[in-house]
Amino acid sequence: MDRVLVFDTTLRDGEQSPGCTLNVEEKLEIAHQLARLGVDIIEGGFPISSPGDFEAVRLMAEQIRDVQICALARALPADIDRAAEAIRGAANGRIHVFISSSDIHLMHQMRKGREEVVEQTRAMVRRARNYCDNIEFSPMDATRSDPDYVIELLNVAVAEGATTLNIPDTVGYATPEEYAALIRKILNEVHGIEKCIVSTHTHNDLGLAVANALAGIQAGARQVECTINGIGERAGNAALEEIVMALRTRRDYYQVDTRIDTTQIYRTSRLVADRTGMVVQANKAIVGLNAFRHESGIHQDGILKDRSTYEIMDPASIGWPSSQLVLGKHSGRHALKQRLLELGYELSEEELNRTFQRFKELADQKKEVSDRDLEALVAEEHRVQQETWKLDHVQVTCGDHSIPTATVRLIDPQGRIITDADTGTGPVDAVYRAINRIIGVPNVLSEFSVKSVTEGIDAIGEVTIRIDHDGSSYIGRGASTDIIVASARAYMNALNRLISNREVSTARVVRTVTP
Ligand code: KIV
Ligand code: ZN
Repeated sequence: MDRVLVFDTTLRDGEQSPGCTLNVEEKLEIAHQLARLGVDIIEGGFPISSPGDFEAVRLMAEQIRDVQICALARALPADIDRAAEAIRGAANGRIHVFISSSDIHLMHQMRKGREEVVEQTRAMVRRARNYCDNIEFSPMDATRSDPDYVIELLNVAVAEGATTLNIPDTVGYATPEEYAALIRKILNEVHGIEKCIVSTHTHNDLGLAVANALAGIQAGARQVECTINGIGERAGNAALEEIVMALRTRRDYYQVDTRIDTTQIYRTSRLVADRTGMVVQANKAIVGLNAFRHESGIHQDGILKDRSTYEIMDPASIGWPSSQLVLGKHSGRHALKQRLLELGYELSEEELNRTFQRFKELADQKKEVSDRDLEALVAEEHRVQQETWKLDHVQVTCGDHSIPTATVRLIDPQGRIITDADTGTGPVDAVYRAINRIIGVPNVLSEFSVKSVTEGIDAIGEVTIRIDHDGSSYIGRGASTDIIVASARAYMNALNRLISNREVSTARVVRTVTP
C-alpha cells in the first residue's frame, strides 16, 4: 500500500488565521506534539516574517530530529537566506520556495511578466538548492493559473533541483475534478517528475479543501499539506484529522495510508485549539464535541446493540477520552495525576500542585469533575503561567436597579499589585473598563462568546473573545464556573498576547506579503 506524506502547516499557514498568534514556546510545544502524532514534515514558520518565526523554526530544527522541518520563503534572496539559516541545524531541513503563477497575481500584485517570473524561479530555486537538497516549490494560485504555464514553472524548478512540487489552491477555488485533473497533468507532463513528489495544498473557501486534497491523492499526489482542526487564512486549510481518518477508515477505497498515530489526534486538536484560541465547532468532523454523540432514539438503540450500526470510527482510535472514572472532592493528588496522564498531560510537580489546587476549588463547587473540566483546568493553568500581567482578584456588583461596578486587582510584570474600579453598561463592561484603567492599551472588543464546557448549572463557562488593536486582532480565552471571572481571564489573556506581540514587533522585520 502506498504511503502519503503528511506535511503539517498548522504553525505557518494555520497561524495566519486572524487573531491566532503563537509565541515561540507555544509553537515549540505544538511542534513536539505534531512529532508525537507522526507527521512527516512540519512547516514551522516563515522565518523572514519575524524574529519569533525565525527562532521557532531554528529551535524546532535543533530539537526535533525525526521529522523534516520546513521553512517558508518567497522567491527572494533575503527570504531564502533567512530560511536556510533557520533550518541549518536540522537533521533533515527543507526550504519551501513559492512564487505566484496566475496572471491575476502577476498583473495586479507582482506587476511582472511571465518570463520574468520564470527567471526568478530559476535563480531562487537554484539559490535554495545551494543550501540544501530538500527543496519544495509552489506556484501560488496554481488553480487559477494557465496550466501550461504552471508546467513551465515546475519544469524549471525540477531542473534546478526541487524534489517536492506543491500545487496550491490558494483561494479555495478549484473543484475536486479540476484539481485532480491538474495533478494528473503535472504527473504526465513535468520532466523528471519520477524523482519528485507531488503535493496538495488546498484552502477551504468553498468548503472543498478536504475533498480537493483527497481528489489530488487519488490522482497520484503523495504529500498532503494540512492543518490541525483545519485552521488557516480565511476559511482555513484542509483539516489533517479529516484527511487522515478518511484515508484510514476508507483504506479499502483509497488504497493509501499515512504513518499518523491516530490516537494522538484528539490531544493534538485540543492543544492547538487551546493555544491558538480557535474554538472547534461542535459539529466538526472527527474532533468536534458532537462528533461521536448520538441524540436520536433510533441511533441510540442501534449503538447500544452494536456500535457499528451508526459509528464508522471507534472514538478510541482518535484518542477520545472514555473515562468511566469521575473525580470529585475526595479524590487525591494521585488520582488527579493518573487521570491527567491518561488524558495525555504530563505535568511537572509544580504544575500538578497548582492544577490540584484549582481542582480542589472546582470540586468544592461541582459534584463531579469530568475530563472536559480537567482539560479546561489544565488549559487555564497554562494560560495564566504564560502571562506577564496577572489577574489577582475581581469583584462585581450588578443587578437591575444598580450601576454595574467592578473592582479589579492586577499584578504587573514587576510583581506590584494595582487596584482600580470602574462602572459600565453591564458587569463585563465594568470589569473590562477597570482593567483598561490599569493596563491602558487601547483596543476594541470585536467578539465575545461564552459556552459551557459540560452540561449542568454548575458547569465551567469558557469565554472566548477577540480584541483589535492597530490592525491586528488577538484572541483570549478564560474559564471559570463564574462567567464574569471567566470573562476577566479571557480579557487578560488577550491583552497579554497583545502586549507581548507589541514587544516582539518593535524588533520585527515587516511582514510584507503573507501568502
Ligand atoms: O496557499 C498558498 O498558496 C500558500 C503557499 C505559500 C503554498 O500557502
Ligand atoms: Zn496556503
